[in-house]
Amino acid sequence: MSEASFVTHLECSLTGKTYEAGKVHGLSEAGKPLLVRYDLEALGKAVSKRDLLRRTEGFWRYHEFLPVAKVENRVSLGEVVTPLIRTPRIEAKLGGGEILVKDEGRLPTGSFKARGLALAVSMAKEFGLKHLAMPTNGNAGAAMAAYASRAGMKTTIFCPDDTPGVNVEEIALQGGDVYLVNGLINDCGKIVGEGKEKVGWFDVSTLKEPYRIEGKKTMGLELAEQLNWELPDVIFYPTGGGTGLIGMWKAFDELEAIGWIGSERPRMVAVQATGCAPIVRAWEKGEEHAPLWENAHTIASGIRVPVAVGDFLIIRAVNESNGFAIAVEDEAIADAQVEMAKEEGLLLCPEGAATYAAYRQSLADGRVSKSDRVVLFNCATGLKYPMPEVTNFVDRTKPVDYSRFM
Ligand SMILES: Cc1ncc(COP(=O)(O)O)c(C=O)c1O
Repeated sequence: MSEASFVTHLECSLTGKTYEAGKVHGLSEAGKPLLVRYDLEALGKAVSKRDLLRRTEGFWRYHEFLPVAKVENRVSLGEVVTPLIRTPRIEAKLGGGEILVKDEGRLPTGSFKARGLALAVSMAKEFGLKHLAMPTNGNAGAAMAAYASRAGMKTTIFCPDDTPGVNVEEIALQGGDVYLVNGLINDCGKIVGEGKEKVGWFDVSTLKEPYRIEGKKTMGLELAEQLNWELPDVIFYPTGGGTGLIGMWKAFDELEAIGWIGSERPRMVAVQATGCAPIVRAWEKGEEHAPLWENAHTIASGIRVPVAVGDFLIIRAVNESNGFAIAVEDEAIADAQVEMAKEEGLLLCPEGAATYAAYRQSLADGRVSKSDRVVLFNCATGLKYPMPEVTNFVDRTKPVDYSRFM
């Protein structure tokens, strides 16, 4: 195993200004996300597709594509390759093309946030940071608490006060110092930002440090490998801060640069909820920057992100891929969740269900064709969210009326 990374430098995603690797960084001077750059020529020589076949499961198998230099700094909780699951009953019903659900709920802490936070925490370990803080809609906080506790770091985490209770409780149980805030994720982010100087914690907000995106990038690497290096036609991604979408896009570029895939790309579809759709609104207007969405609300709490620091990166990936941004109603999300659970036995999180609702909508309006092979990202297990109450009851002290069960 290598004892060095292939990182050459970091680069401002807006201005291209370069920053030295091996130092602690937040945003660039322009206030934009920093992207990690690698010596791709050397990387391509150091690892082959065949090498991967001999490696253990999980995203650390792609360590050459990742920034952690020292093996002992890789913080792991037993990650798996998340399955790509076909949905034959729904495909038959819709008469559409192949649908593959990438079920990220199988990762440690039950969501894809494990990828980004494993990398952010591992890099924090490499830099000797001791105290991490973040705003979260739930899943990211849980992943940070778990990985940071494993690495012996302190975490302080701020959630909107209507974050699903399971998320808040799991953060606390996994060692996070968690606080509810009477506001949204951007309000929580402000508290974290202002506390940097006062408390001395490191801000791990989405895209405000350079490494969560590198972890999310592994979704693209993994997807490509699972499909034998042939990317799907369309990817539907539930978009909040957009790290996953931007990360996958970066992965595809890096894979092309080392010659593992060609220049063809999936159409990237950014899925939001109609109650919080800043990216969709900006994309529809042909703009790259998405102003704050007022009074954001949706049952898909993970994508209730009123403003995204990486807005222009999401929109560029969508446009360069000839994709689109689409908003779905909460009602359609709830319907999609029920349908996928009842037809296919897949309990999607509301954000994952939003991608299926968006697929149905796009098939109906012709933006996606019946011959397209699509991947829907289910970013978390549905088990973490409130479910409808069950009131069916059998009184065992009275004769049982078996006709009820027919
Ligand atoms: C389940 C779920 N889906 C989607 C998202 C949005 O992810 P991203 O920040 O990559 O857009 C989140 C973020 O909190 C989430 O928890």
